Amino acid sequence: MDVKAAVAFEAGKPLSIETVQLEGPKEGEVLVEIKATGVCHTDAFTLSGADPEGLFPAILGHEGAGVVVEVGAGVKSVKVGDHVIPLYIPECRNCEYCLSGKTNLCQAIRVTQGRGVMPDGTSRFSLNGQKLLHYMGTSTFANYTVLPEISVAKIREDAPFEKVCLIGCGVTTGLGAVVNTAKVEAGSNVVVFGLGGVGLNVIQGAKMVGANMIVGVDINPAKRELAEKFGMTHFVNPKEVAGDLVAYLVELTKGGADYSFECIGNINVMRQALECCHKGWGTSVIIGVAGAGQEISTRPFQLVTGRVWKGSAFGGAKGRTDVPKIVDWFMNGKIDIDSLITQVMQIEKVNEAFDLMHGESIRSVLTF
Ligand code: APR
Ligand code: ZN
Repeated sequence: MDVKAAVAFEAGKPLSIETVQLEGPKEGEVLVEIKATGVCHTDAFTLSGADPEGLFPAILGHEGAGVVVEVGAGVKSVKVGDHVIPLYIPECRNCEYCLSGKTNLCQAIRVTQGRGVMPDGTSRFSLNGQKLLHYMGTSTFANYTVLPEISVAKIREDAPFEKVCLIGCGVTTGLGAVVNTAKVEAGSNVVVFGLGGVGLNVIQGAKMVGANMIVGVDINPAKRELAEKFGMTHFVNPKEVAGDLVAYLVELTKGGADYSFECIGNINVMRQALECCHKGWGTSVIIGVAGAGQEISTRPFQLVTGRVWKGSAFGGAKGRTDVPKIVDWFMNGKIDIDSLITQVMQIEKVNEAFDLMHGESIRSVLTF
C-alpha cells in the first residue's frame, strides 16, 4: 500500500515528505494506522548524524499512537480496531530479560531492531524499489507502519491519540524513572536537573508519589513557570548560584537529595546529580542521553559512602503492562499531558517541529 511518510534520506538533511510503499504485516506483525506522533530529541539526535547507531535512509519517529488495521498470521494479543501505542522497547514476556522480573530491556528483537529491520531481517518500507529502514522498531513518522505484535501496547479507546502518543516516550521515561527505577517514597526530597519534557514528567511523577521538596535545576529561567505547574517546589538556576552548585543543593535539601534525576544528557551535570545526593542512601538516576563516546566520573568515595548511581531507559517500564496504566492515569486526571504539548501540526511541518525543539518548545505533536 501507499503511505505518507517523512523520510530521513541522510544525516544532517531535512526530512522529506514522500509517498512510500509499505508491505502488509507478516507472521507475528501488525499494521497500525498512526494517528499522532510526538517529536523527541532522540529523533533529532539520530537525524543529526551524532548517533553512531543511526542508519539511513529511514523513517524516524517513536512516540506515536494509532489503530490496528490488519494483523499477520499467529497474532493473538491484539485485533483489528484495537487502539495501541508503539513500543521501542518491546515486551515479549518470554526472553531471559522479561522473565527476570528485574528489567524492562526485552531482548527478543534487539538485533534486528537495531539494524532497522523486522524480526525476519527484512524491511516493510520501500520507495520506488529502494529499501527504507525502520527506526527504533516503530517508524511513527508515517501514517501507516508495521510492528511486531510484542511492540504494541493495547490502550483504552476513549484516550485521545494526540495526547497519549507522548506516553510512547517522554511521559513514561520521566514518570517511570520515579515510579519504577528510583521507587521514590512519599516525603522524599527530590532534585531534578533539566526541565524539558522529560524533567517535567519526573516532577509530576515525584508529586504523584507524594515527594516533599521537588527542586528543579535549569539554566533557563523561562522553564520555571511550567515546572511549578507540574509540582516543582523550589527552582535553582545554576547561573545565579554563587559558589558550588552541589554544596548549595545539599544545603537546600538539608543534607542532600534522597533522589536526583539527570534529564539533560550532560556528563558534568550527571556528576553534580550524584554528588548532591544524601550521604548513606541518596540515589541518582541518569535519564539523559549523553553524546557518543562520553564518559562519567566521580570519586569512588561517593559510592563507598552510600550514594547509588543508576540509569533508566523508557522509565524502566514494561510497555505492554505499564503503558495502559499510564494512559489510565492520564484519563483519570492523575497526570497532565496537555501542558506538555506546545504545538500540534501536520506531518508536512515535521522539519519545523525539529527546529522548534531548540527553542522554548516542550513537545510538538504531528498529525496526519
Ligand atoms: N544545567 C541545567 N540545565 C540545563 C543544562 C545545564 N548544564 N543544560 C541544559 N539544561 C536544560 C535546558 O535549559 C532544558 O530546559 O535542560 C533542559 C533539557 O530539556 P530538553 O532539551 O527539552 O530535553 P528533554 O526532551 O527533556 O530530554 C532530556 O532526555 O531523552 C533524553 O535525549 C534526551 O538527553 C535528552 C534528555
Ligand atoms: Zn523519545
